Amino acid sequence: MRPLRRRVPVVLAAGALLAAVTPATAGHADAPVSNRSSLKQDLCYQIVTDRFHNGDSGNDNPSKSPNLFDSGKSNWKKYWGGDLAGVQQKLTYLKNMGVTSVWISPHVDNVDVPVVYGGVTNTGYHGFWTRDFKRTEEHFGSLTDFDNLIAAAHAQGIKVIMDWAPNHTSPASSEDASFADNGALYNDGTLVGKYGSDSASLFHHNGGITNYDDRYQAQYLNMADLADLEQQNPTVNAIAKDAAKYWMDRGVDGVRVDAVKHMTPGWQQSWADTMQAHKDTTLFGEWYLGSQSDPTYADNVRFANDSGISVLDFYMNIAMRNAFAYGGSMTALDAAVTKTGTDYKYPGNLVTFLDNHDMPRFLTANNDNGKLHQALAFMMTLRGTPCVFYGTEQYLHNDTSGGGDPWNRPMMPGFDENTTAFRELQKLSALRQSNPALAYGTHQQRWINDNVYIYERKFGTDVVLTAINKGTTAQSVSGLYTAMPAGSYGDQLDGLLGGSGITVTSGSGGNNPVTTFSLGAGQTAVWSYKAAEPAAPVVGSVGPTLTRTGNTITVEGRGFGTSGTLKVGGVTATTTSWTANRIVATVPAGVVAGAAAVTVTTSGGTSAGYNVTNLSGAQVPVTFTVNNAPSTNWGDGIYLTGSVAELGNWSTNKSIAIGPLLAPNYPNWFTTASVPACSTIQFKFIKITSGGAVTWESGSNHSYTTPCSGTGSTTVSWQY
Ligand code: NOJ
Ligand code: NOJ
Repeated sequence: MRPLRRRVPVVLAAGALLAAVTPATAGHADAPVSNRSSLKQDLCYQIVTDRFHNGDSGNDNPSKSPNLFDSGKSNWKKYWGGDLAGVQQKLTYLKNMGVTSVWISPHVDNVDVPVVYGGVTNTGYHGFWTRDFKRTEEHFGSLTDFDNLIAAAHAQGIKVIMDWAPNHTSPASSEDASFADNGALYNDGTLVGKYGSDSASLFHHNGGITNYDDRYQAQYLNMADLADLEQQNPTVNAIAKDAAKYWMDRGVDGVRVDAVKHMTPGWQQSWADTMQAHKDTTLFGEWYLGSQSDPTYADNVRFANDSGISVLDFYMNIAMRNAFAYGGSMTALDAAVTKTGTDYKYPGNLVTFLDNHDMPRFLTANNDNGKLHQALAFMMTLRGTPCVFYGTEQYLHNDTSGGGDPWNRPMMPGFDENTTAFRELQKLSALRQSNPALAYGTHQQRWINDNVYIYERKFGTDVVLTAINKGTTAQSVSGLYTAMPAGSYGDQLDGLLGGSGITVTSGSGGNNPVTTFSLGAGQTAVWSYKAAEPAAPVVGSVGPTLTRTGNTITVEGRGFGTSGTLKVGGVTATTTSWTANRIVATVPAGVVAGAAAVTVTTSGGTSAGYNVTNLSGAQVPVTFTVNNAPSTNWGDGIYLTGSVAELGNWSTNKSIAIGPLLAPNYPNWFTTASVPACSTIQFKFIKITSGGAVTWESGSNHSYTTPCSGTGSTTVSWQY
């Protein structure tokens, strides 16, 4: 860290140092944001920095990487001028819309030379072609510009989420070292290595992925022609962790991790632990799902449940587009809510989105603003953190060739604060922050047919009821019940999408009748009831969900009063702040590793437990290999189990033991797992058949002492 700071002007260097050592509450110039370890109450906004706003024309065509800029914006693969200063200049616009966290495209230094395909110059304008993880991309601005953006965002109460792509560097060719920059990786300005002369084994050299559903190919082959980093390489491991910590020290609040399907879950868990131990933060990954029956769906669920990194909600993206863009039924949409709510351990931590930089925009799929407004209303009232792609609120779309990459990334057309979508987001963001039912609540379908969906979110006694009619005829709604108490409720959208008020009368058992009303064609209404602060504590969120002794956790909910006891796995934690809706605490020593329930006790009672995962200690990634394992049939797998919670505590359950392992050199199998550093652990391999039959290795347990830092590996032969 320190050598990096020397490049910073003296005044800023002092600021950065303070940020690193001063608690966020100490009144430092860098105002703290509300809660870094949860986005549940947030409205997130995704920006492709190059395409948002040109705030400084001085960096349009930098001398370090000349001629990658197209002032005429005709080559969609060149830089167009948007930059960090531009994002900073538009923070007030974002704040006015209700945005509370901004996800910027990768800001790190990208490939400096043209990447020419078929005579067309391509560049790293999107940010995913890293050259140096510790420097800012000169087209986007200087380190000072980055610091200024963070400071300005925090001053407005807006979190900054960086996009992080440690899976690969840039395009390279295994035959032609002169192609582009040969995947060069630099570390704070010093060349570390290139793809074609890789004596340090920084990269994989297994060719390109042909089957994206194959675990080994996805993790160990190149995505297209991107030079695929080997994260177990000690240098790569150190850079991917140290560089991310460096940006956190500069004020980054959360991380969107690129291509999590293409790196090992074990290495990523060790990365997540390194981040959380450094500074509590929110992590979510991009596990691309091509359809709702994507064969990697179950792996994506397990990753989200176990790694400490949540995921972007691709399953719901498909469900929302089916319902609102493609005319699918509301029943199918409701089924998607139920399925994801069951499969994911933390559905409230999913990040929902209608469109992004990798798919045609919603309005390309269906150029109907009314349907877009309804889809946005649904997303804003659903569990998970809504993330709006830049320009959606301005109805931005370009339908050339189907509107996919790069046509989904036009320049932001303007910053009109009066569009219906803008005002809708503004109103519903305010509601997300004022009524915790949206951030933490359960989801219950209350009335449904193909075109009408009425559902209730409920947290404690707080309730939000949303009604959407996407059909072309009015619907008389009778027989609707709600948990909202008797009374009259106005539409929280103030009729913006045609909705009006409802009247609720008294019923029993939390089912109060709503007086029959008509929900017009295309109308959407949202009704809200917020109760007084409850007498007994109710926990809605604990973050991070992957933690360990000494780490900070933040508990959110209602009825916490002014003091009480917070326990993690039955052990009392030291709290550093306590308010009615938020408690910040340090995870105590002595909590058993594995699932640990967080409870809040006040004079009013004790909350239900909210489970997090307590790790055995600081994590390191270790590759476990077993040679000459027993033969397997299709659907059988070799798994790893062992003496620590991270290896499943000797479980033989497929979803708890680590695996299935990978076998590119069958019958030799391997996996990378995240395990406690500096510890001696016992382990064995097991075979689990498709039918669930378990065969243990015989003999005594294997033993391995894990490294205290860096990465490790151990290889054994199956004991017969
Ligand atoms: C997924 C990103 O979202 C996409 O835009 C990018 O090209 C690939 N990962 C590779 O980084
Ligand atoms: C039970 C298994 O049968 C045995 O082989 C293994 O060593 C132990 N679990 C773990 O100590």
